[in-house]
Order: sequence, then C-alpha cells, then structure tokens
Amino acid sequence: MSTTDRTPRPAAEKAAAASGDGPVLRLESVRKTYGRGTVVLRDVDLEVPPHTVTALIGASGSGKSTLLRCANLLEEIDDGAIFLDGAEITDPRTDADAVRRRIGVVFQAYNLFPHMTVLDNITLAPRRVHGVPRAEAEERARELLDRLGLGGRAGEYPDRLSGGQQQRVAIVRALAGRPRLLLLDEITAALDPELVGEVLGVVRDLKEEGMTMVIATHEMGFARDVADQVCFLDGGVVLERGTPGQVFGEPRHDRTRQFLQRIIQAGRL
Ligand SMILES: Nc1ncnc2c1ncn2[C@@H]1O[C@H](COP(=O)(O)OP(=O)(O)OP(=O)(O)O)[C@@H](O)[C@H]1O
Ligand SMILES: [Mg+2]
Repeated sequence: MSTTDRTPRPAAEKAAAASGDGPVLRLESVRKTYGRGTVVLRDVDLEVPPHTVTALIGASGSGKSTLLRCANLLEEIDDGAIFLDGAEITDPRTDADAVRRRIGVVFQAYNLFPHMTVLDNITLAPRRVHGVPRAEAEERARELLDRLGLGGRAGEYPDRLSGGQQQRVAIVRALAGRPRLLLLDEITAALDPELVGEVLGVVRDLKEEGMTMVIATHEMGFARDVADQVCFLDGGVVLERGTPGQVFGEPRHDRTRQFLQRIIQAGRL
C-alpha cells in the first residue's frame, strides 16, 4: 500500500467514475514483493475500460496470476494503488469482502465442493455471504446454468461432470453475485484440448453481453480474437501493451518478439 501522499483525483476523473465511463479497474504503480525482496510486480499501470477484455500474456512466472490476485485483494500490494470504479480498494479502510463481492474470479482449478450439488456450489456464497434468500439465489443460478448450456445439471455432483462442464459451473458461480468485473486465470489450462473450446465460447458470449474481464491466458489465438487490449508481462513489468494487432502483429520489444516466436514454434499461435 502506498505510503506516499496521493494527489487528489482530477474532477474529470471523478465525474467519469460516477457516470460509469471511467476504467472499471485501474492499477497505478503497483509493486508486489514476496518474502525478502523478490519483486513480482514492479510499477504496474493498467486501465481496464468498461465492457472490454484485457488479456495478460507472458511467460510462466511473469506475474499474471499475482496481478489478478492483487486486483482481487487476495494479495496485499507493497506500493501503488488499485481502483475499482474510481474508488481506491487498496486503501486500508476498504471493506475487502465488499470489494470481492463485486469481482468474480475463476481459477485454473475449478475448486468446486465435491460433496455439494452444482446448485449448492453456486448458491453457497450468495446465500451465506451475501444473504440472498434461497429461492432468489437458486432462480439466478438456474438462469445462468441455462445460459451456459448446463440447464438440467443443477442437481448433479461435480464428479459427474466433465472438466469443461465443471469449469462452466465455476464461471456460473463467479457470475452469481452479478460482478462488475470478472478475473479469469488460465481457466482452460487444466482442460483436455477438446473441452477448451466450450469454455472459451462462454467467455466470448460474456464479452458479447458486455462483461468487463481481465484474462490471464496461454491461449494466444483466443487472446488475439477476444481481447480489446493485450498486455505482455515480462519479469513483473508490463513491457508492452496495445491492441491484439499491435502486440501480436508489430511487437516493439525484442522480448515480446522472442516470446511470440516461442509460442509460434510450439504451434500455439
Ligand atoms: N506465494 C508466493 N510466494 C513467493 N513467491 C511467489 C508466490 N506466488 C508467486 N510467486 C512468484 O512470483 C512470480 C510470479 O508468479 P505468478 O504466479 O504471478 O506468474 P504467472 O505469470 O501467473 O505464471 P504462470 O504462467 O506459470 O501461471 C514467480 O516467480 C513465482 O515464483
Ligand atoms: Mg499464473
């Protein structure tokens, strides 16, 4: 968390935040270290406008997951600031639970409770944490399950579903709280290749519906197709950012070119 004085935000930015036109998520000079001085994010700036998709790409260990975990307040930052709809969420006075209610997160491992049905997995947090009445939570869950092609699966236990279906349930669970922002961390990495498409299809649909998303992914073809903004992370620095056409088509940095070259050689772009 920043220990330095912050300059007041300009009136225009406040007005933009109030009207919903400002960035949904903004990182300002975010610095994150682990242990004694291993710097994982250094001076990361990022703006995620409403109804856009930002793809985080970069080699393993470049800091993609850490960035997402900081944005969701799962990790405390060492310096800088993070804003959600213009309000600083890294302020020590922030109610972290309230922030997390506005941010849906899906990780590589779906983390569904095996002893609970799909419906109970989805409605657990809305009912227990957000105090939504059971009938209302279940109605919302069934509506989302229908939308994601899982109608009729509400009563199943997770181990009766394929990996792709379980991951779609995890997405439904993240959407159940009507989040303002969705953070997706390698959500297809654990899936068999033939199941990847169905999950990416859901992300495409969510984009069509206007959901604001930040996605860490090794699926470069998908990032190129779906992202409005691509950020290439290298050693905890956003080395390059731009439209998919810019970053994939005309990378400015050697590091980006080398990374893309490796991806192309591996047949993943
Ligand atoms: N809890 C932790 N404690 C110490 N170091 C950590 C911790 N979590 C991550 N790191 C380190 O931070 C760096 C960035 O990790 P991170 O998981 O953010 O990378 P990533 O870009 O998501 O990689 P991948 O593509 O493999 O998922 C790595 O060097 C990692 O070893
Ligand atoms: Mg990661």
